[in-house]
Amino acid sequence: MIQAAVFGFGNIGSGVVAVLEENREQIARVIPGGIAVKYILDIRDFPDSPYADRIVHDVDVILNDPEISVVCETMGGKEPAYTFSRRALERGISVCSSNKELVEAFGPKLLAAAAEHHCSYLFEASVGGGIPLITPMLNCLVQEKITEVMGILNGTTNYMLTKMQHCGADYGKVLQEAQELGYAERDPRADVEGHDTGRKIAILSSLMCGKTVRYDEISCEGITKITPEDFVFAAQHGYTIRLLGMSRLQEDAVSVLTAPFLVPEGHPLYGVTDVFNGVLVHGTMVDDVMFYGRGAGKLPTGSAVAADMILASRNIGSTVPIAWSEELMPVVPAGERISAFFIRGDKAQEEAVLKALDGKLEAVWEAEDSLEGDETFALVTKEYREKEIYNALEEISGIRSMIRMLPKEA
Ligand code: HSE
Repeated sequence: MIQAAVFGFGNIGSGVVAVLEENREQIARVIPGGIAVKYILDIRDFPDSPYADRIVHDVDVILNDPEISVVCETMGGKEPAYTFSRRALERGISVCSSNKELVEAFGPKLLAAAAEHHCSYLFEASVGGGIPLITPMLNCLVQEKITEVMGILNGTTNYMLTKMQHCGADYGKVLQEAQELGYAERDPRADVEGHDTGRKIAILSSLMCGKTVRYDEISCEGITKITPEDFVFAAQHGYTIRLLGMSRLQEDAVSVLTAPFLVPEGHPLYGVTDVFNGVLVHGTMVDDVMFYGRGAGKLPTGSAVAADMILASRNIGSTVPIAWSEELMPVVPAGERISAFFIRGDKAQEEAVLKALDGKLEAVWEAEDSLEGDETFALVTKEYREKEIYNALEEISGIRSMIRMLPKEA
């Protein structure tokens, strides 16, 4: 039997305990006796919990117990999660984390500490919740040169965009609904402004490159400006709108961003709806591989953390290797990115926009049924360096939406 501890008994931490306890027999097939949770570290007491007797408030109780070989870190935030994780690793205790903020900021440092002390730092649950994604990428696809990772990485915004698509509801209304259902936080900025997706694509990009792609170098656009009108035009031309994290190798650098995209019908991400996540990984030999499932939630995310705890437990005394160095990966400057855009604006500006985009235009999109009547026009551009599109439109007012597009043949 493996003795373990949980750092942080919130939603995910309690999910991890539920998975380890309820599936003990299943886990015992590979870890004789299963994984027993000996301690739960939290600043709160949980007198009504069946695990009340395991609550401790002092991390040293756990770190000084030689029986503990694995912990899960489900605290969230950078501190004290970083200090506690580092101290555990320095004592040879493996750490399995769901904390994307910590993994993005300190992943390579914690991996180095794990390697030095013959234990593991694992973080499957930090991206894509319950979806097995990082472990397959690092194992089943280890022989591949991965050149692109693209996905719907945030369940809250995907729920909101799906509602806007199907019900024609506006942004404010669907945000309120998402909050009432407990998907969106009271302060929803991390989700709706794209920061959550940004951190997740930073982690996936770093794993793709083996070097660090920093979150603060990633262009981050959220969904706050998407309107029902954008959905009307998109639907009439065979597209929907999704918030994507996208990272692709472009020569010796990586082109990476978080932004809403028009996604064409038939694309594998088109059918990823509601709170689900979907991730496409492109390898030069295997082509596209798709991962799909629940990207959030107590039990799905707890299940992914438990899988890491089992992996770490099967490798006691050694390190599960993850190639991610502190060396910075060069990021393609935003203006040099190659993109095609859907552009919607005031009808009065149509001629000026058409003139400014001369040679860059793919098509003008007529709307058979526009919510704004005749007041608006829409067009799509060819693929261009983004700075050429932005520069061309610099002097023009009345642009209501500029949304990147995935090509139809993708
Ligand atoms: N707020 C995140 C989401 C939680 O909605 O996907 C999982 O990281």
